[in-house]
Amino acid sequence: MSLQSKNIAVLISGGGTNLQALIDNEKDFNGKIKIVISNRKDAYGLVRAEKNNIDTFVIKDNEVLLKTLKENNIDLIVLAGYLKILPKSLIREYENKIINIHPSLIPAFCGSGFYGMRVHDAVIKKGVKYSGATTHFVNEFADEGPIIMQEALLVLDSDAEELQKRVLEIEHKILVKSVKYFCDDKLKVVNGKVMIGE
Ligand code: GRF
Repeated sequence: MSLQSKNIAVLISGGGTNLQALIDNEKDFNGKIKIVISNRKDAYGLVRAEKNNIDTFVIKDNEVLLKTLKENNIDLIVLAGYLKILPKSLIREYENKIINIHPSLIPAFCGSGFYGMRVHDAVIKKGVKYSGATTHFVNEFADEGPIIMQEALLVLDSDAEELQKRVLEIEHKILVKSVKYFCDDKLKVVNGKVMIGE
């Protein structure tokens, strides 16, 4: 039985390299990036979407956000550098259907205030030997939802910019894999833990 193709919404606030990775690998998904939504009109990710004929929206109001997702029959929301907190009502409505990518090994260096370069600055400052990236389902507590995938790397660099570049490569890889698994209905959450089916 062929699986119904999933409608994907990608939410961004910035450059959109994670969005680009999804666009570049969309052919491997049992799904389609139907819309890209940004809370900032100057997000370069909107340009990436427009270049690939994906409908884009700049939305700041959470009611409008929910309405737009519903009108587009969205099955999966991907937060790819989206810096706004989603309302609890939306998170409940899309339980285990919102995937976030975070540039550290959760539960380290996550939660409020830990985003973008701040994460890598904290990693360098702390002197941890490993960092990496995490994909997880979004729940009502920032960066604490069920973990889908993680990949680690050695913190060789002394500067955060170099570390960010290396972590970003991991982000692209595990985000694409996580979305593919979701579209193939291979992600099940059991007792708050994600099981990846074969
Ligand atoms: C990434 O580091 C992601 O982990 C974080 O925000 C950044 C977004 O980068 N949430 P991009 O806009 O996808 O290039």
